[in-house]
Amino acid sequence: MNEYLSPLEWRAGRLHLLDQRLLPAVETWLAYDDEAGVAAAIRDMVVRGAPAIGCVAAFGVVLGLRRGRPLDEVVATLRATRPTAVNLFWALERMRRVVLAGADPEAEALAIWQDDIDRCRRIGRAGAALIPDGATVLTHCNAGALATGGYGTALGVVRAARAAGKRVQVLADETRPVLQGARLTAWELQRDGIPVTVITDSMAAHFFAQGAITCAVVGADRIARNGDFANKIGTYGVAVLCHAHGVPFYCAAPLSTVDLGTPDGTGIPIEERAPAEVTHVREIQLCPAGISVRNPAFDVTPARLVAAIITEEGVVRPPFGPALAAAGAAVGAAVGAAAAAAASGDYPPKNA
Ligand code: MRU
Repeated sequence: MNEYLSPLEWRAGRLHLLDQRLLPAVETWLAYDDEAGVAAAIRDMVVRGAPAIGCVAAFGVVLGLRRGRPLDEVVATLRATRPTAVNLFWALERMRRVVLAGADPEAEALAIWQDDIDRCRRIGRAGAALIPDGATVLTHCNAGALATGGYGTALGVVRAARAAGKRVQVLADETRPVLQGARLTAWELQRDGIPVTVITDSMAAHFFAQGAITCAVVGADRIARNGDFANKIGTYGVAVLCHAHGVPFYCAAPLSTVDLGTPDGTGIPIEERAPAEVTHVREIQLCPAGISVRNPAFDVTPARLVAAIITEEGVVRPPFGPALAAAGAAVGAAVGAAAAAAASGDYPPKNA
């Protein structure tokens, strides 16, 4: 499909996913034949990252329909997986409309995948201009090739800056509790020969205080109409540190991540995941048995802390509302309706 790493493959009518739970120790691909398996893969984080989840869900629809399952049931199964990443609802809505219009679902899923890679490349080109030569870029979680159709959003910006000849290195927060930074960002950047240094989340403030960070670039799971956005838990803390130290904080995301149906960050549903992600690392128990644990997977960064949102249509500066509305109008109607349905539990969306 492309010369870059992608977390998915579509071969001989089967979906193949690189099992991100096992990286970097083991590179295993798992094959899927039905929508229930694809839904479980999304829920269990075999595949993760908002744009990648959208691409994979689209192929889940193809597989479900091939097995003769009704469209609404297939979509409902895939929808009930991860609530924060709006790309999931965006892709399912795009698939639903295409299928109802009588078009080929496989062609549409392939188009969603290719489209996501193209968007990432354009995000990279737009964002590269913000990265000075010699920069140290802090990132949180993994918003790279593994989290998208390929190439990445935040890491796409780094890739494009380096392709433009700039010397750029990455400081990767380990990103407790699932360690997407330590495991996935470190793995894919090392694989590409891009200098990367892993720090624990608690070390970031120290490096800001030392003046070691040029800017932060992160991805997003859902951007509200006013520019507030949800991303991996800990992102808000990075934004606060940027603000305290006068360092620019950038969010890089495709317009399929913009949810014009949600006015601000208070309306974004935050997924709460299993306590075991906090109490254990793989099989090793860290906490006393039976301890009380909270595990919100995402937090919301207010728009006032964001210097710019880097989209495939260019760099958007505050105030974000009007610019996002204009740039996202084409995808916004579908996303807003689908997201509202996700919040209310209705499907299909009443205003679709
Ligand atoms: O829980 P995850 O690993 O799916 O969370 C992923 C993130 O928070 C990413 O930063 C976001 O989805 C953007 S990926 C381009």
